[in-house]
Amino acid sequence: MDKIIINGGKTQLKGEVVIEGAKNAVLPLLAATILPEEGVTKLTNVPILSDVFTMNNVVGGLDIKVDFDQEQNTVIVDAQGQILDEAPYEYVSKMRASIVVLGPILARNGHAKVSMPGGCTIGSRPIDLHLKGLEAMGAQITQIGGDITATAEKLKGTTIYMDFPSVGATQNLMMAATLAEGVTTIENAAREPEIVDLALLLNKMGADVKGAGTETLTITGVDKLHGAEHAVVQDRIEAGTFMVAAAMTSGDVLIKDAVWEHNRPLISKLMEMGVEVTDETAGIRVKADTSKLKPVTVKTLPHPGFPTDMQAQFTALMAVVKGESTMIETVFENRFQHLEEMRRMGLHSEILRDTAMIHGGSDLQGAPVMSTDLRASAALILTGMVANGTTTVGKLTHLDRGYYKFHEKLAALGADIERVSGE
Ligand code: EPZ
Repeated sequence: MDKIIINGGKTQLKGEVVIEGAKNAVLPLLAATILPEEGVTKLTNVPILSDVFTMNNVVGGLDIKVDFDQEQNTVIVDAQGQILDEAPYEYVSKMRASIVVLGPILARNGHAKVSMPGGCTIGSRPIDLHLKGLEAMGAQITQIGGDITATAEKLKGTTIYMDFPSVGATQNLMMAATLAEGVTTIENAAREPEIVDLALLLNKMGADVKGAGTETLTITGVDKLHGAEHAVVQDRIEAGTFMVAAAMTSGDVLIKDAVWEHNRPLISKLMEMGVEVTDETAGIRVKADTSKLKPVTVKTLPHPGFPTDMQAQFTALMAVVKGESTMIETVFENRFQHLEEMRRMGLHSEILRDTAMIHGGSDLQGAPVMSTDLRASAALILTGMVANGTTTVGKLTHLDRGYYKFHEKLAALGADIERVSGE
């Protein structure tokens, strides 16, 4: 198993960093490539991540032609002709995000079978909102032997109110609605930039999706969709991760082509602490003197609130800022495990249900730590940069799902970090 070794304590990140296409955009975009029965879809700026290979295998398992040119960061998908109804268990079971192929297969074939995604370390991750929405559109849903089967001769447009603005459920229902009869209105919909990116591709394919980025989506069904070309939006979470890395090492880093609008909640919190964030032509520059930063209170919320996917990384920043900071995680029920590992590095924190009190500013010591999920891995590596001594981070399969050459990018900015392949 590979591990990452960081010699920390005096790291000061300086320079500029290039950000990849967004993992949380490309996965639903790949699901959308199931929909067109004419033409071919070309996705560019595709990140080279293990989750992308998994989703390519899920789509390819439907007898759809998928070509991933890693040199060009391009995926070309030809879904013409008859496609299969059943997503391959072998791949779906590896990645719960695969559930977003359910809506497209059902809309295209009138029948779909996808294995029920399990929970994960950050929460139980139910899919009741996905299924309730499809039933509201006329689908018969059964759950037998761990599989979900959905059937609908033709989905019917209707109005769906989402109990919670679930990102995946919004994506599943939006895609299903593109080929339904009539108009579907999704209220209390998710508003993340990745939702907007998906709507852009669907409309390029000939769909009629309005309101993406607001809490009300209106989708008017059409008979069929055709292939299109689309560049994956930049990964705002990777960009945000490097903003935090710069802030916690008293660095000066330009995050190239970063989109201010996509990270407003994070940027406003960084500025509240005293971090200097400027919007330059070439991207967003982040500068800080960590010793002068002030503690803050942060609450994660669906977009446009503070993103839960930046929570772990931000607690690493809170750990180095002198004083009492508070992090409230309202989206997932078990997303503080990185704090248990940081305790091994000398971080003092108390966790009470959805709230973590972080007593920042004390010296941290390097230690061997274990990553429990994708963003926790990134947070532990960032903490290793500021801890005195050596930190090793194992179980990098989590990290590789969402970060491309993470250690190389940090090393290029001045971190003393390497990745060694283990036994
Ligand atoms: C997406 O997951 C992201 N993943 C997650 O990123 C991200 O944390 C999450 O949105 C929230 O922003 C991808 O886009 C591939 P949700 P998703 O449905 O769609 C509850 C990362 O680190 N819920 O918005 O699964 C659920 O339990 C990953 O990149 C229901 O109750 O998130 C959770 O508490 C982690 N019923 C909350 O909503 C449902 O039917 C948010 O889930 C669906 C969700």
